[in-house]
Amino acid sequence: MASPASDAFRYAHAHRQEIAWLSQNTNHLVPPEVVRGALDEAIRERRYEGYPPAAGDPELLDLITADLGLAGIRPFLTSGGTESLYMIARALLSAGDEVIASDPSYLIIHKFVELAGAHTKNLDIYAPPFRLTSDRVREAIGPKTRMILLIDPLNPLGSGYPREEVRAIAEIAHDHHLTLLNDVTYRDFTDAHALAAEFAPEETVTVWSVSKNCGLAGLRIGGFSARPDLLAKVGRFNTNDLGVNILAQVAARAALRSKAAWIGEVVRQTRANAARIREVVEHVPRTSLPVYPSRANMMVIDVGELGLSPDAIQDRMLREHGVFVRAGNYLSPKHGNRFVRVSFSNPPSDIERFARAFPETVRELSARAPAPSAT
Ligand SMILES: Cc1ncc(COP(=O)(O)O)c(C=O)c1O
Repeated sequence: MASPASDAFRYAHAHRQEIAWLSQNTNHLVPPEVVRGALDEAIRERRYEGYPPAAGDPELLDLITADLGLAGIRPFLTSGGTESLYMIARALLSAGDEVIASDPSYLIIHKFVELAGAHTKNLDIYAPPFRLTSDRVREAIGPKTRMILLIDPLNPLGSGYPREEVRAIAEIAHDHHLTLLNDVTYRDFTDAHALAAEFAPEETVTVWSVSKNCGLAGLRIGGFSARPDLLAKVGRFNTNDLGVNILAQVAARAALRSKAAWIGEVVRQTRANAARIREVVEHVPRTSLPVYPSRANMMVIDVGELGLSPDAIQDRMLREHGVFVRAGNYLSPKHGNRFVRVSFSNPPSDIERFARAFPETVRELSARAPAPSAT
C-alpha cells in the first residue's frame, strides 16, 4: 500500500504546473539562463551518447575545490549528496558502531547508518539552541562512537553553527579519532559559514551538493570532499565507475562558474520570503517558528498547540490549495507530530499562495476538529 507521503508526491508531480513546491528545500530562484546555454549546447552535441570523464569534468572539480576553499581537500562526484552519504556510511561504519546525531535531523542519513549495521544516538535538539552543542556531543561519546553527524545548516530546523562551535566539535572529533560527517548542503544560504574540515582536516568528510544552492536538484549531482586517504576509503564504494550524469556535470559547471554573480540575489529573496512567512505565522494563533531567522532555505512551523496532525495540514494545503509543505514525521521520530516544514527559495507568488493557504487550512481543519483540552 502506498504511504501518505508517496501519495502526496504522486499527486504533486501529477499537478506540478499548479503546485507551489515548498516541500523539499529546492531552489526556484536561480535564473534559468545560468544553465540553459550550457545544457542546450551539450544536447546539441549529443554528449549524452557518450560516457563522461569517469572522475568528473576537470574544470568542475576545480570549481568545487575553489568553492569550498580548502587546500588539499579533494572532491569526489556522486549522484547527489545522497549517494555520498550512503557511501560514507557503508565505508566507514560497521555493525554495532554508534553515530552521534540529532532529532530532528535529515533522517535519510540515519537510515544509511542503520543499513551499515550501526545506529545513531539522537540528541534531542527541539529546544534552544535547536542544534548540537560541543558539551552535549562530548558527553554523548561512548566506547562504540565512531562518527559525529554535523549538518550545518540543519534540515529541517534551519539552525546553524557558530564558527567557534564548529571548531569545538571538530576538536572533539580529532581528540577522539572520530569521523566528522559535515553535511553542508545549505551552506550558501548562511553568512559566515565555517567548514569543519578547516579545524579537523584528517577526520572530516564534507558532503556538499549543488541541488539547493544552484537549483539543480532534479539533475542529481553532488559529492563529498576529504583528504586523499579518507577519500580513497569512501571512494571504494563508488557505484558510478563510468562517471556521473554528463548533463548534470555540464549544468553544475555552468552554475558554479557564475554563482558569485547571482547567489546574492537568491539569498536576498529567500530571506525576504522567510520574513513574509513569519508575518503570516504570527497571525495564526497557537502556531510559531521555533527557529527564526533560518540560516537555510527552510524552517519548521510548530503546530503542536493546535491539536491538528501535520499530515492533515500537509494534505489539505496540497489538495485544496496547491501548496506543498512537508509534515514533520519524515524528519523527527520524537517531534514530527508537532511541526510542518516549509521551504522558501521560491518566487514571491508561491509565498503569497502559502500566505493564503496556511491560515485558511488551519481555520478549516480546526473548525472540524475537537478543541484541544485545556489540561
Ligand atoms: C541535509 C541534507 N543533506 C543532503 C541532501 C541531499 O541532497 P542531494 O540532492 O544532493 O542528494 C539533502 C536534501 O534535502 C539534505 O537536506
